[in-house]
Amino acid sequence: MTSTELRQSFLSFFEQHGHRVVTSSSLVPADDPTLLFTNAGMNQFKDVFLGRDRRDYRRAATSQKCMRVSGKHNDLENVGPSLRHHTFFEMLGNFSFGDYFKEEAIRLAWELLTGVWKLPADRLFATVFAGDEGVPRDDEAYGYWLRVLPAARIAELGKEDNFWSMGDTGPCGRCSEIHYFRGEHLPCAEPVCRGVACSCDRYVEVWNNVFMEFDRQADKRLVPLPAPSIDTGMGLERITAIMQNTLSNYDTDLFQPLLQTISRLAGRQYGGTMGPADVSSRVIADHARAMTFLIADGVLPSNEWRGYVLRK
Ligand code: SER
Repeated sequence: MTSTELRQSFLSFFEQHGHRVVTSSSLVPADDPTLLFTNAGMNQFKDVFLGRDRRDYRRAATSQKCMRVSGKHNDLENVGPSLRHHTFFEMLGNFSFGDYFKEEAIRLAWELLTGVWKLPADRLFATVFAGDEGVPRDDEAYGYWLRVLPAARIAELGKEDNFWSMGDTGPCGRCSEIHYFRGEHLPCAEPVCRGVACSCDRYVEVWNNVFMEFDRQADKRLVPLPAPSIDTGMGLERITAIMQNTLSNYDTDLFQPLLQTISRLAGRQYGGTMGPADVSSRVIADHARAMTFLIADGVLPSNEWRGYVLRK
């Protein structure tokens, strides 16, 4: 499938399951001084989760433009050396505002990955929250995953991996990630690969299902949301790499035209290696996309704030 077909397939699947397909919001957050750039699909729904805004739908699906270059979610330093990180990327997401919760979110994710996209079930792993800082282990999510996965393929991790927050304050909750196993043949720098918790290329995180339950206050207290809700996010670039069977996001149809043009202009063929010229080519490809979308959303190079990030 092409990346365009995958994006459409994701949105159509959730539309068929009662979700309203909502347009991506701008990379410049509409009304949120806590955010430099839109960094997740849930940003445009923050006030809906908090109960301050209402929509005429309780289920939504989006393909959201995101930038992760500052604050809590910052991938800037990974861009170039990594084959799967970007400053700008598209996040596919489905959302429930007080409608379905963990059971249905896990069921839908499984159906799309294995039923519609036919990913081999034996390559999929899940993670759930192990319990930390007064928030208990996610027994419920663990139980739902056990319906489709053996216990050996369900990992329990702490708050770094399995408790998602938008920022220092605001909506947050335990989460469950889905990882795709690419194979033991890929290198891992650790003495013993840590599996889904490892940063090597053997396992790639494809989808994060957040079970939104709390509003974190400035004093760190967790106040329950008006209704338990769902916020999920899957990187279009990563799922495209998996579906197109390429190790690198940069070898997919999303990046190849850019890298071909960069190769032509540089007079040097991009080779996909960790060598400095290929790392630089990935940086240029990534940053060219980021700059284009930032400018399209009204940001101009300047000495301060958002414009300074673009200028850099
Ligand atoms: N908000 C969650 C994330 O960004 C799920 O979309 O990972």
